[in-house]
Amino acid sequence: MPTILAIESSCDETSASICKDGVILSNIIATQKVHEQYGGVVPELASRAHMQNIVPVVDNAVEKAGIDLKDIDGIAFTQAPGLIGALLVGAQFAKSLALALDKPLIAVHHMQAHVLANLIETDKPSFPFLCLTVSGGHTQIVLCNSPQDMKILGETIDDAAGEAFDKTAKLLGLPYPGGPLIDKYAKEGNPLAYKFPEPKIPGLNFSFSGLKTSILYFLQNAGTANVFKEIFTATEAERKKFIDENLADICASIQHRIVSILLNKLVKAAEQTGVKEICIAGGVSANSGLRKGLKELGDKMGWQTYIPPFEFCTDNAGMIAITGYYKYLAGNFAELDIIPSARAEW
Ligand code: KG4
Ligand code: ZN
Repeated sequence: MPTILAIESSCDETSASICKDGVILSNIIATQKVHEQYGGVVPELASRAHMQNIVPVVDNAVEKAGIDLKDIDGIAFTQAPGLIGALLVGAQFAKSLALALDKPLIAVHHMQAHVLANLIETDKPSFPFLCLTVSGGHTQIVLCNSPQDMKILGETIDDAAGEAFDKTAKLLGLPYPGGPLIDKYAKEGNPLAYKFPEPKIPGLNFSFSGLKTSILYFLQNAGTANVFKEIFTATEAERKKFIDENLADICASIQHRIVSILLNKLVKAAEQTGVKEICIAGGVSANSGLRKGLKELGDKMGWQTYIPPFEFCTDNAGMIAITGYYKYLAGNFAELDIIPSARAEW
């Protein structure tokens, strides 16, 4: 019945969680507000904020779980991928604690943890399952045969789905991160108002950079006949007016296209593998259009679909804790000289 303390610090969330025998007792997340004014995460500032947050966040997680530090059997941390300075803070803290408590250290791959977030709830998928992991940095379709055996079937060749949301939101003049705002305005709009092109990428890989460019040209032409061409007919003022007057329809149409790109590939992956247990994970799985689209598609295709609760969709230590729990059961521990890595092999 292991109790795991987990730490997540790969990007701009400092998070700690306690998991006892596969049940999450606490999941504390401190979101760094400092980046908002810069329109994206500033790595140097992220590291500093992690340094400030990590002690209170861990204290809070332990207290909320109602346990004592001496009850902890293993310490899990995000080893990769992520911002190196940010990862170093969590890794060093986890190592120090492992040394002080004389407990094993467990290194967790952030993207595998997003997938295994689907095992947190009692209503969980059975193996094998497919997971569409969509975040600000990644877009992947993963075949998960067991907590220790996962395979990437397809991934983005350029921007991630979250980046597609955030970058187009920026073109609309919305603040970072724009994904949730596109979602919000899309609720009032017509998803078929503007038809953005779907990229033709073979297999199960994704591409979003062409979509972003077509939206850029569309806006620079203020929705005129030359929608996706590099002929800029609109003045700055006309472009702004067009966006103001049509924001809901533009957001709904962008969201509709991103969601259709994601779900069409998921259908392909399900057909290729014959798997009907289908999950989504990562920050973009908070998107209401994607959640609704997945449910509807699941009903149509005879899939069982799973979406983690919101707090386990965006970056969080709960998913690191559940992954750490399975690694603990498998005796898969890290040495104390392990180093974090910005990029990571699967
Ligand atoms: O997984 P995550 O919290 O962080 C990593 O990138 O690892 O994902 C963050 C991404 C951002 O791009 C954000 O805009 C997007 O998830 N996101 C959304 C929504 N909520 C978060 N995108 C669309 N609709 C949402 N409701
Ligand atoms: Zn993430």
